Amino acid sequence: MVSRRSWLRSAGVAGATAVVLATGVLSYRVFDTAVLDPEGGNAYDPWRTWRSVGGPLGTVAAAILAANPHNTQPWFFHVTDSAIDVYADSARRIGTVDVAGREHHVGLGCAIENLVIAARAKGFVPTVTLLPSGSASDVVDHVAHVALAAGPAERSPLYEAIGSRHSNRGPYRATPVAAGVLSELVDTTGLSGVDIHWITDETAKAALGQLMLDAAHAVVNDQQQSIDGFAWFRSNDDAIQQHRDGLTLDEQGLSPLMLTAGKLLPASTRSAGDTFWVDQTRNVHIRTAAAYGVVTVADSADVETQLTGGRLLQRLHLTASSRGVALQHMNQITERIDREQATGAPATFAPRFAELLPAGVRPLVAFRVGYPARAARPSPRRALAAVTR
Ligand SMILES: Cc1cc2nc3c(=O)[nH]c(=O)nc-3n(C[C@H](O)[C@H](O)[C@H](O)COP(=O)(O)O)c2cc1C
Repeated sequence: MVSRRSWLRSAGVAGATAVVLATGVLSYRVFDTAVLDPEGGNAYDPWRTWRSVGGPLGTVAAAILAANPHNTQPWFFHVTDSAIDVYADSARRIGTVDVAGREHHVGLGCAIENLVIAARAKGFVPTVTLLPSGSASDVVDHVAHVALAAGPAERSPLYEAIGSRHSNRGPYRATPVAAGVLSELVDTTGLSGVDIHWITDETAKAALGQLMLDAAHAVVNDQQQSIDGFAWFRSNDDAIQQHRDGLTLDEQGLSPLMLTAGKLLPASTRSAGDTFWVDQTRNVHIRTAAAYGVVTVADSADVETQLTGGRLLQRLHLTASSRGVALQHMNQITERIDREQATGAPATFAPRFAELLPAGVRPLVAFRVGYPARAARPSPRRALAAVTR
C-alpha cells in the first residue's frame, strides 16, 4: 500500500514535472512561432529596405511587395540599366485552387503596377508592354517588358503606400465607406478593358456574402483544393524564415490575445485550418464588410486582361491604404467557377455571381473594404537575390 505521505510526494513530483514540461512546450512554441517578435528575421526585411534600393533594381524591390495569391510570389525579374523584364514562375501556381491561372496573372499584374509606380518615383519614365513575346495558352512565361527612360522623379501617395499596404483579414468597423470615397479609389487611367463594380446595397451584399460562404464550404469540401491551399500555410517561424512566402497566422487579423493563443497551440492541421477559414469568412469577413468590390472584365480568361486587372487592383489597394481604408481580397467564388469549369461539373457559382453584376461583364477578382478595427501585419517576402536573374 502506498502511504498517504509518499502518494502526496509522488503527486507533487508529477505535478511539478507537468508544469516544467508544459512550460518547456510553451516556451518552445513561443520561440517556434516568434510570438515575441512576429515581424523579425530576414523574411520581413524587404518591407524595411525597399526604399533604399537605388536604380532599376529599386523598382523590383517595390514590385515584390505587391499583393499576390496565397503569397506565392510567382515572379522573377531580369534587370538591366534600361529595362525590367517580368517573368511568371509557373512552379509557384496554386494547383487546383487557381486551376486556370487567373489569380497567378492578376498577382503578376499587381507586381507590374508597383514596379511602374516606383519607377516614376525613382526618376524613370516607364513604358509597359504586356506579353511582349505573345501568349499561346494560359501558361505564359514573359509577362511584361518595362522600358525605363530617364525622367523627373515623381513621388506619389501611391508610392508612399507601397510599404504600408497589407491585406487586412480582421474585423472592419461598422462605419460605412461613403460612395464618394469608393469612387475615388478607382483610377483606370491607361488601363483598358477593366473596371470596378461596387456592391454596397444591403440585399446585394447579403447575397454576395452568402455566395462567398458557400464557395468557402465548396473549397474545403474539395479535397484537392484544400490540400493545394494548405501547402502554402507556414505554421512556424522556421518555415517562414526558410520559405519567405505563403500565409501565416500573423496575417489573419486576429486580436492580440487570440493570436498569441493560436501560436501557442499545436500547429494547425489542414482540417483545423479549413474550419478556421470558413468560420472567419462567416463571422468576420462577410459580417463586417462595409462594401464589396469586383474587378469586372469582358473576358476573364484573357491573360492580358488578367494582368491589366491586377494593375488596377494593386492601384486601388494602394489608394485605399493611403486613405485608411482596409481591403481583403476574397476569391473563393471565382476559384470555384474555374474549378467547376475545369472538371466539367455543372456551373453553380457562375450564374449566381452573374446575377449580382451588370449584364455583359464577367468577374475577374473580388474583395471587401471597410475601416479597420485593427492594423494588418506584413507577410514574408523572398529576397531580391532570389527573384532576379
Ligand atoms: C489575385 C489575388 C487573389 C487573392 N485571393 C485571396 C483570397 O481569396 N483570400 C485572402 O484572404 N487573400 C487573398 N489574396 C491576398 C493574398 O493572400 C496576399 O496579397 C498575400 O498573402 C500577400 O500579403 P499582403 O497582401 O498583405 O502583402 C489574394 C491576392 C491576389 C493578388
